[in-house]
Amino acid sequence: MPMTQAHFHDLKDAGVLVTGGGSGIGASLVEAFAMQGAKVAFIDIAEEPSLALVRRLSATAPHPVHFFKTDLSDIPAIGRTVEAAASATGGLKVLVNNAAWDDRHDIDTVTEAYWDANQAVNLKQMFFTIQAALPHLRKAKD
Ligand SMILES: NC(=O)c1ccc[n+]([C@@H]2O[C@H](COP(=O)([O-])OP(=O)(O)OC[C@H]3O[C@@H](n4cnc5c(N)ncnc54)[C@H](O)[C@@H]3O)[C@@H](O)[C@H]2O)c1
Repeated sequence: MPMTQAHFHDLKDAGVLVTGGGSGIGASLVEAFAMQGAKVAFIDIAEEPSLALVRRLSATAPHPVHFFKTDLSDIPAIGRTVEAAASATGGLKVLVNNAAWDDRHDIDTVTEAYWDANQAVNLKQMFFTIQAALPHLRKAKD
C-alpha cells in the first residue's frame, strides 16, 4: 500500500525556526516542516551537515531553507540570529527548541567548567531563544 502524508494547511507559508536543525532529529524536523510548505530557518553550529541539508532540500522544498551558523551558547548572537531568521521567513509562527549537547559523562569527572558549558547548551540558550522569538510568535498569533 502506498504511503500517504498528512498535510497541515496552517503550516503552509508559516515561518518556522528550528534550533540544532543541521543534523539528527532537528534535520528531520527541518525537512518535514519544509515539505509542508513552511518557510523554514534553522540554527546550527555545524556547518557541513547544515549546508548539505540546505542543498538537498533546495531541489524539493517549496521555499528556500535558511541556515544560520550560530553557537547557541553565545546569548547576544541568539538575539541577532532570531531577528535574521524572522526576517528571512517573513515572521515566526513556530519555534522548535531542539538543539542540545547530550554527551555521556561520569559523575566523578564533572568539573564546574564542564557543568557550565553543558548548561549553556542544554538549558540557558533555550530560555533566551524563546525570549528572542516571543515578540514574533505573539505577532503571528494576532
Ligand atoms: N536521540 C534521542 O534518542 C533523543 C531522545 C530524547 C530526546 N532527545 C532530544 O532531541 C533533541 C535532538 O536530539 P539529537 O539526537 O538529534 O541530537 P544531535 O546531537 O544529533 O543534534 C543536535 C544538534 O544541535 C546542534 N548543536 C549542538 N550544540 C550547539 C550549539 N552550541 N549551537 C548550535 N547548535 C548546536 C548540533 O550541531 C546538532 O546538529 C535534543 O534536545 C535531545 O536531547 C533525543
